[in-house]
Amino acid sequence: MKKMFLFILIGSALFAQNKTYTQRADSVLALMTLEEKVGQLVQYSGDWATGAAQGRPSETSDELLKKGKIGSFLNVVSSEKTMKLQKIAVEQSRLKIPLIFGLDVIHGYFSTFPVPIGEASSWNPTLIEKSARMQAIEASSAGIHWTFNPMVDIARDPRWGRIMEGSGEDPYLGSLMAAARVRGYQGKDLSANNTILACVKHYAAYGGAEGGRDYNTVDLSERNLREFYLLPYKAAVEAGAGSLMASFNEIGGVPSSASKFLMTDILRGEWKSDAFVVSDWNSIGELIPHGVAKDRMKAAELGIKATVDMDMETSAYFYHLAELVKEGKVDIKLVDDAVRRVLIAKFKLGLFDDPYKYCNVEREKKTIKSKEIVDATREVAQETLVLLKNEKNILPLSKSLKSIALIGPLVKSKDNPLGGWSALGDSNDVVSVYEGLTQKLGKNVKINYAEGCTILGKNKSGFATAVKAAKASEVVVVFVGEHRGMSGEANSRATLDLPGVQEDLVKELKKTGKPVVVVLMNGRPLTIPWLQENVNAIIEAWYPGISAGIVIADALFGDLNPNGKLTVTFPRYVGQVPIYYNYKNTGRPHDPTNHYTSYYMDLENSPLYPFGYGLSYTTFEYSAPTLSKTNIKKDESLTVTVEVKNTGKFEGKEVVQLYIRDLVGSVTRPVKELKDFAKISLKPGETKKVEFTITPEKFKFYDINLKHVVEPGDFKVFVGTNSVDVKEASFTVVE
Ligand code: BGC
Repeated sequence: MKKMFLFILIGSALFAQNKTYTQRADSVLALMTLEEKVGQLVQYSGDWATGAAQGRPSETSDELLKKGKIGSFLNVVSSEKTMKLQKIAVEQSRLKIPLIFGLDVIHGYFSTFPVPIGEASSWNPTLIEKSARMQAIEASSAGIHWTFNPMVDIARDPRWGRIMEGSGEDPYLGSLMAAARVRGYQGKDLSANNTILACVKHYAAYGGAEGGRDYNTVDLSERNLREFYLLPYKAAVEAGAGSLMASFNEIGGVPSSASKFLMTDILRGEWKSDAFVVSDWNSIGELIPHGVAKDRMKAAELGIKATVDMDMETSAYFYHLAELVKEGKVDIKLVDDAVRRVLIAKFKLGLFDDPYKYCNVEREKKTIKSKEIVDATREVAQETLVLLKNEKNILPLSKSLKSIALIGPLVKSKDNPLGGWSALGDSNDVVSVYEGLTQKLGKNVKINYAEGCTILGKNKSGFATAVKAAKASEVVVVFVGEHRGMSGEANSRATLDLPGVQEDLVKELKKTGKPVVVVLMNGRPLTIPWLQENVNAIIEAWYPGISAGIVIADALFGDLNPNGKLTVTFPRYVGQVPIYYNYKNTGRPHDPTNHYTSYYMDLENSPLYPFGYGLSYTTFEYSAPTLSKTNIKKDESLTVTVEVKNTGKFEGKEVVQLYIRDLVGSVTRPVKELKDFAKISLKPGETKKVEFTITPEKFKFYDINLKHVVEPGDFKVFVGTNSVDVKEASFTVVE
């Protein structure tokens, strides 16, 4: 009997070349029992866990694998360990269906790249694609088939710790980054042994959590959802993402893991995607505390009916799906469709052809931390630093300095530069700031180091030594920020200040009268008005990954000219949150001469640093934008041209940004919307012409009837170095 099944499977594989993935999946599906089908929809965590496992089965995973009752594992790492489990699945189970192994490869597997919000600050999708490609090469060599990334949630609230995992607040930029990451992970050929399946998460609008508190309620109008939040998921799906993850949150009373609107109507219906959907960790089980299912059986029913295909860690499908089908509560077609989607992914990855193709210990040894990948971490980090302030061009520092004070809890830190969600990232691989600077400066410059204080806590006993170090030096560079565990999942904050007594430390250092440069490492916008007002220079480094010390040292001493731009608005105070550049004008935009307008009595409306902001060691001068036409028809495109000149002394990269405003619509429109950008490099004195084409697609929005259309009318176009410092022109769209 066994032999016969093997024969059938091999037979189907032989025919495979001429068959579509769907036909191949169907040929397997035809052989499966109901229990085996359910098995393909069950996923458990292997080595380590991110939360409480809810009522797992008592049998060992080996026993379950032999019975074909598990289709996927997450968190099993190394080719050796994945090989062991894969062998059981394909040699000891009846149908020999290979497992798919998933892991959160968010910004690196072993070799850690900058955190995603840092990567996004590069405004360089080509670089982001390269980062994802490298991550895929490294992870795939260690048996990983599938990453739970990109995380594409739009986030307008820096209190939300997971803002660090995404690309920021803008749907256009977020969409480009999302697609770039998908291309990078999946490559041109998903069946190659160095490409991995992407998983777009967290579908949908997880970043809209009320109050920025993780897992909290989201309530958005359909218009807001479609116009802002959904766009990056759509872009990732259009780029071919093979899977999505349903989010924890509800939207307007319906948890995503039970949302037919999100899964069936939008994903499968409108976007015509055959990507499979995995739940988030226990998110099907959480339909119970959400209050839409009274027990796990009902939760399973809601999940499968919403077409959430795979159940991560809940055991709801494991225990109840077969029963639901037998009782007639769930149509077997729903199960078949889900299984087909999972099998198609396995076929696309080539796992049916060679289930061990990702399990090669030799290849793993050669690939992990290879020079190519480690070099790429540096290349990417070079574009992620954002220069927030540079009074009197104090930066870059002179290489003929005789002494420098390096102060702060992040100077010698080897783990914080990794940032959160760093998979197997190893602090031993990190070049700390101290190491980077000592390597760069050699013996010529006296380094006076003091920790000063810890990131958290109230102890100021280290201040005196820090002040002494500052006094003994020509310039003081302070490295402060957040602990890497302060952003990421379940790490929401109600305040956005520099934690602990770090700001007090900087205040003491400032009193010495020495020039003070602050380098920040953190995973979210911080409220730092005092720093902006009082220190001489500020660099936002985010968490730069293993090459932290190298790129920061290069930037401080001018071997690298910072060129990152913020993709999230920095508020002055937490009370301004949510604060974002593409806000609506309101009926009463702020007018200082009129009390009854929209503003705070105790604070100005403007942010500390706007979206798109970031300085350079050089300066750029923009010409006024010129338009190819000032009147265009609804289906016509428009060219916007601007000349940008490097008017400073350094070679530098600039992100030239284009925004539009639709002045009057059938519904209100944002005051600015990013529609294009170009990152260019200019030598001192050099001028480049940048041309943007605005296609009708870019004028479209969801009108009063939620139809995606171009409405005739007057528009403004803005071009500039950030979302506030812009030059404008006008045009009209006619019928
Ligand atoms: C997170 C996901 C992650 C999953 C698996 C969940 O807690 O929300 O982002 O992919 O765990 O690790």
